[in-house]
This record gives sequence, C-alpha cells and structure tokens, in this order.
Amino acid sequence: MNYVHRSITILMLGVAFGMLSGCNHETSVKQSAETMPKPTLAKQLFGKTADGTAVDLYTLSNEKGMEAKITNYGGIVVSLKTPDRNGKAGDVVLGYDSLDGYLKSSPYFGAIVGRYGNRIAKGQFTLDGTTYKLAKNNGENHLHGGIKGFDKVVWEAKEVPNGNSAGLQLTYLSKDGEEGYPGNLSVTVLYTLTNDNGLKIEYTATTDKKTVVNLTNHSYFNLAGSGDILKHELMLNADKFTPVDKTLIPTGELKSVKGTPLDFTQPTAIGARIDQPDEQMKFGGGYDHNFVINGAGSLALTASVYEPTSGRVMDVYTTEPGVQFYTGNFLGGMVGKNGQAYQKRTGFCLETQHFPDSPNKPSFPSTVLEPGKKYETTTIYKFSTKPMTP
Ligand code: GLA
Repeated sequence: MNYVHRSITILMLGVAFGMLSGCNHETSVKQSAETMPKPTLAKQLFGKTADGTAVDLYTLSNEKGMEAKITNYGGIVVSLKTPDRNGKAGDVVLGYDSLDGYLKSSPYFGAIVGRYGNRIAKGQFTLDGTTYKLAKNNGENHLHGGIKGFDKVVWEAKEVPNGNSAGLQLTYLSKDGEEGYPGNLSVTVLYTLTNDNGLKIEYTATTDKKTVVNLTNHSYFNLAGSGDILKHELMLNADKFTPVDKTLIPTGELKSVKGTPLDFTQPTAIGARIDQPDEQMKFGGGYDHNFVINGAGSLALTASVYEPTSGRVMDVYTTEPGVQFYTGNFLGGMVGKNGQAYQKRTGFCLETQHFPDSPNKPSFPSTVLEPGKKYETTTIYKFSTKPMTP
C-alpha cells in the first residue's frame, strides 16, 4: 500500500486489541472509528505544498476524550481538544483550518522549531575555530532555525504503536549546510497521546559533524479556547531567568525573579503584572523570556497553568533546562481557526528549550552535539481539570 497516497487509514494499536475480550484482529478492523477502542490514529490528506508534495493530517485520540491533530508539515500540532471541567472537549491551541493558512504565513503556530529554537546573536557562532553564518531573520539576530526552519519542511511520518498510547513518529534529515548549520542532522520527533491526557514529545537527533541543536514545540495555548490569556494563572518552577537586551538576546546573567513581574513561583494571573513599568517587560513587549528551570534534568514539573472559567489545567514536564514563556506579543492581524481573529495575547507559549544564544554563551548549558552522541529531550503537556473555587 502506498504510504503517502493511501486515504484514511485507521490504525488500531496492539494494546487496544488486547483490551477487547474475545475480539480478534479481523473483527476489530471492521469496526467504525466511532466504536473503536482508543487510543487510535487516523490519517487524511491535509493538502499540498507549493512544489506539490502531499501533506497529511493525523488524528490521535485516546479513551479520555482527548484528541490531537498533527500534520507532517512542520510537525505542527493543528488542534488539541481537551475536556473542560464539565467534560466538554474544546480546542486549546491556536492555528489555521487548512494547510494553506500555515503555508501563507504563521508565527510558528504549533510547529517543531529547529535546528536552533530561539535566537542566536548576530546570526553567527564559532565551533572549533570555524565561524558559521546564519540568516539574520529577526533584526540583526537569527531566530528559530532561519528562513526555512524545521517548521516549514515536510517530515516523514510513521504511525507507531507505543504501549497504551497513540504515537506518531516524524523524521527529517537536515543536510550539512542547511540554513548555514554544519553537519547532516538526523532528527526524530515522537508525538504520543497518552491515556492520562498527556501530549508527550520526544526529540532525538544525531549528527555526522559537530553542530548546535535546540529543538522545541511552538504551540500557542488558550485553555479557554478564545479571548485573551490574561486571566490564566501560571506557576513556573523557576527562581531565575535569563535577562535580555533590547534585541531579546540574553546578557549572560542568571537573575533572580524575586521582586520582578517575572516571579511566577506562586500561581499568578498572567495579566497581573504584564503592564508594569519594567525594563525587561518593555524589551519583550510583555513576557518573552527564558526561565531557568529549578533542578532541571529529570522530567520535572516545569509549569502549571489553570484557566478558571473552563477549569482546564495544563502541566508541563520537561528534561530541558529552560522554558521560553511568550505571551503572543507579536500576534495580531491574522484570522485563525473558525474565523477567529487572533490578537496580541490570544495565546501563550511555553517553549521548553536550552537557553537562547547558548552557542555564544559558554556559561550556559551546552547545545553542541558531536558525532557519535545522541541529542535526547522529552516534554509532556498534560491536561486535567479543577473544580470551580467558591
Ligand atoms: C518566540 C520568540 C518571540 C517571537 C515568537 C514568534 O517565542 O521568543 O520573540 O519571535 O517566537 O513570533
């Protein structure tokens, strides 16, 4: 069967089969998508890129009523439906209805970002005496992998049974010299929708030449589904952040959040201090900062967001040392899903990552990947609900 061109295919995972007592493979595959045991993964054509490459949209569902739609164009999470406190599912990520929307222009909605997520100062870095020049696509700096980053390429997709979960594996070979980076980088991103309502993202990469790597996902969340995100309450497990200059490049310092609008060590509404007169907030036009995660390394709780009207909670776990908290300060002027006009602060991002400009900051955790070594990071966005507080 032609992998790319086959139409809708429903893949039932091994564990799901096992859960159906007395049901063999043949009877299972005859069931309709509706009655199938979860988790499941379905595939449909999403559209074609300008050069005619077919792009698919994969639907991952679990038995708790959560559903993720992911395309192999940019590895974009197109929609993510999670139940509210009354059990009603709603889409909690920003994006477009069609592939065309993403092809025309997108502020990295839902995408995998690489080869280097976030900024590299002056678009250059030096490895072993060789200086590599990258595109300056954000003022004088390099941002999110360049002109055609990992968010704008078509990834190879493979459905992978992954225990009691629906898994989609995306792979991409970034050639030596692509966007100015050295080394053929072989990248794998495994998206898994778990039955405890987690969207797990596992990133791995290997190279044949010393290079730098920093991969993340750029989903914009709005746990209410619409409106602004200012009343969402955020907790960030970070006592420090990396202050930036006016071009959003870190100064190199790790600064305490104490006494600043960046202190989210206790749950605080995103909008509570966003307009305070503060140099860092002015530079970012709101929050657009990398936080230094306390006790990074294990898959620790990094952030927790609660939206009071829907009751939705999103917990973020990561192995990464940093997370970019961005409040959609550059949003505006685009019409997204269901004709929704997205404005400044319609969504927020929690981009788990290594620190910005690490290739030029020897004191930051290293982003260098050497041949024979494996880049490996994991992030989980886990959803639940909380009852209304009286
Ligand atoms: C990141 C950056 C922001 C902005 C967005 C994309 O989060 O830190 O400054 O560039 O991506 O619009």
